[in-house]
Amino acid sequence: MINCLVTGGAGFIGANLVRKLNQRNDRKIIILDALTYAGNVERIGDLIETRRVSLIKGSITDRQFLKDSFRRYQFDEVIHLAAESHVDRSILAPQTFIETNVMGTFQLLETARVYWKGCQNNRFIHVSTDEVFGSLPLDSPPFDETSPYDPKSPYSASKASSDHLVRSWVNTYDFPAIITNCSNNYGPWQYPEKLIPLTICNAIDQLPIFVYGRGNQIRDWIHVDDHCEAIILALTKGNVGESYLFGGNSERTNLDVVEKICDEVDRLLCRREFCSKKLIKMVKDRPGHDFRYALSNKRAAKTLRWTPRFDFEKGLKETIAWYLRNKRWCDRLRDRQYQDYFKKQYRPRVITGSTAREGIAL
Ligand code: NAD
Ligand code: DAU
Repeated sequence: MINCLVTGGAGFIGANLVRKLNQRNDRKIIILDALTYAGNVERIGDLIETRRVSLIKGSITDRQFLKDSFRRYQFDEVIHLAAESHVDRSILAPQTFIETNVMGTFQLLETARVYWKGCQNNRFIHVSTDEVFGSLPLDSPPFDETSPYDPKSPYSASKASSDHLVRSWVNTYDFPAIITNCSNNYGPWQYPEKLIPLTICNAIDQLPIFVYGRGNQIRDWIHVDDHCEAIILALTKGNVGESYLFGGNSERTNLDVVEKICDEVDRLLCRREFCSKKLIKMVKDRPGHDFRYALSNKRAAKTLRWTPRFDFEKGLKETIAWYLRNKRWCDRLRDRQYQDYFKKQYRPRVITGSTAREGIAL
């Protein structure tokens, strides 16, 4: 059995990944997670302490804890997802992003490097984001693995820094790492602060749905299941020292996504009198808001034989149905800390109009 460490395995992508990895029956999976506000054991509760999956609570910033964990569990592989992941939070309070995403990645790299010295066949997958490449103009081709880094938010700068650390460890120490950069994920178990789950929950609860700026920013949406498949292929078939980009081939404007969600929630709840689109409010833009992200899948298709399988509209409908079935989980997360966060956010200044269509003229 291979001992596989998944950092951030109690988070949205990590938990979906652990489920997928566990189906393969060829690895012992050890989740290491600090269980911050974003970590949640309900996502993996049924798997914990089964024969092949265990959870250890602790921070990747704690070197001694990492050393002890490597010694105790003898990790052969690391899939590193632990991070502060929400751009809005990085604008409000950047410090933890630097501590976790930069310093935490450094501590993990160093612990693994020292522990794996002289060993072979180890792998370190560093899960990163398309945001490290910055914002893409409308008429430009998608980013590829040769695109220069140009991060624009504290979050993306912290992820770019961690990518650079990983690259330098490969270059300097022959460290067996691979970097993956992925576009915007959606699917079950995503924390309801990100656009898709937040919009679904607010449409269900008939709460305001805030669209930043004109709502014309473009994101390339990928189903979390497609992303997890790609991470496993990078782990098992990827070449050390390379980066792989995973895009969803589903570029949509934010307003388009929000409106689709409103229509589907109304359809599933058989609403006749109420139209969720009326909840949409155009608000002040996110500071430094990246306009567009898009990624080329060419290398992943060629080397890993990977392409995304989900159709966005179908995947979105399934995701909305999942949130309706699991709304109580989201409600449990809307705790005090979450409420405080939303009170602080810079969103409440409604620019104009009460519906998306009226609100376009900023
Ligand atoms: P998430 O916020 O849902 O989960 C992050 C997890 O990391 C949580 O379980 C949290 O408790 C844990 N964590 C935070 N700080 C930690 C620390 N110091 N030590 C140990 N654990 C800690 O994030 P996600 O959306 O699942 O993203 C996972 C990874 O994928 C991140 O590295 C993110 O940058 C990257 N990524 C996310 C997306 C996306 O669309 N969500 C896209 C591309 C890449
Ligand atoms: O691109 C990959 C990245 O996608 C990941 O690396 C990040 O971890 C993840 O958070 C995500 O970042 P975004 O900033 O793109 O995701 P978010 O869901 O916060 O926002 C998506 C778009 O919707 C973005 O253009 C901002 C906008 N938005 C977001 C929220 C929460 C709104 O208009 N209103 C909102 O309430």
